[in-house]
Amino acid sequence: MRIGITGATGFIGGHLAGLALETGHEVIAYSRRPGSGLTQPKEAPHALPETKLDALVHLSGESLMGLWTQEKRERIWKSRVDFTAALVGHLATWQPENRPKVLVCASGAGFYGNSGDNPVDETSPRGEGFLADVCAGWEKAAMRAEALGMRVVLLRTGMVLGKNGGALPLLKRVFGLGLGGKLGSGAQWMAWIHVDDAVAIILKAIQTDTLRGPVNLCAPEAVTNAEFTTQLAAALKRPAFFHAPAFALKLLLRGMAEEMLLGGQRVIPRVATEMGYGFAYPTLSDTLRRVQGAALSLRWLTVVYCG
Ligand SMILES: NC(=O)c1ccc[n+]([C@@H]2O[C@H](COP(=O)([O-])OP(=O)(O)OC[C@H]3O[C@@H](n4cnc5c(N)ncnc54)[C@H](OP(=O)(O)O)[C@@H]3O)[C@@H](O)[C@H]2O)c1
Repeated sequence: MRIGITGATGFIGGHLAGLALETGHEVIAYSRRPGSGLTQPKEAPHALPETKLDALVHLSGESLMGLWTQEKRERIWKSRVDFTAALVGHLATWQPENRPKVLVCASGAGFYGNSGDNPVDETSPRGEGFLADVCAGWEKAAMRAEALGMRVVLLRTGMVLGKNGGALPLLKRVFGLGLGGKLGSGAQWMAWIHVDDAVAIILKAIQTDTLRGPVNLCAPEAVTNAEFTTQLAAALKRPAFFHAPAFALKLLLRGMAEEMLLGGQRVIPRVATEMGYGFAYPTLSDTLRRVQGAALSLRWLTVVYCG
């Protein structure tokens, strides 16, 4: 298949491009950055040069990390909701035979808002808050591609774990300094997935003609923040005595803390499971041990080589 990927320079996009190439697909990787060596959009980020595609995976978007100032919120919104609407509008100008048959568009588990202890699956309604608004707007914009005859798949993604991207390298630095600990009460649920499972499910979604609509990109075992903290500390063999109180996080990080750190979702990957996908990384303790193990053995190899 000929697969286009926006956000191909990113964490998930880079892994997806790697897996697609390894499994015999052709990849057209898009980047806004001049000099990246990748295909650049023409006048604006949505203006992908027309070429025949079988699938388009749309992953680009302003990072959610950092202070959610008014400007940051606008960048988060525009780069997802407005850019996706413009991208679909742009695909409408392509010759119908060149248009991808399937648009796989990123979204987030934040779609469900802060769902407390209630398990949520793809049939659950949207939640409240800025992230839920962004995800709902983003998904609505992507779904307009159905009117162009395209199948649309929406990736409601939890925190993606892997050794060379996402949140884990930062968390490892924090825990390495002995500053690891639970956030707020620690009772909030965290949806997570290993990057290899995430990209394997995306590729399976591209190839499953009957699949359309939301897919929770999360491992079957959601954990609370307190449990995540304990397991990460154990995998890193570091203490986790620190406790970041909710009021301090809210003061420092404003809305970002409330929605991304102190709230969460207990997400069930119902569609991926029904699709028959077998997770390579189903449990957190094993995932963290394997990710950390890989990093340790690489360091060990470096030491041996240098020695
Ligand atoms: N990683 C996670 O844990 C996670 C969890 C839930 C949802 N997601 C969603 O999944 C998608 C991919 O995640 P990721 O971790 O691979 O993201 P990432 O590493 O931050 O990469 C996103 C890519 O988007 C492009 N980009 C950055 N800022 C942009 C802007 N203001 N406007 C347009 N494009 C911009 C960049 O590509 P160029 O500069 O090369 O164009 C960048 O490489 C994102 O939309 C993210 O929100 C990720």
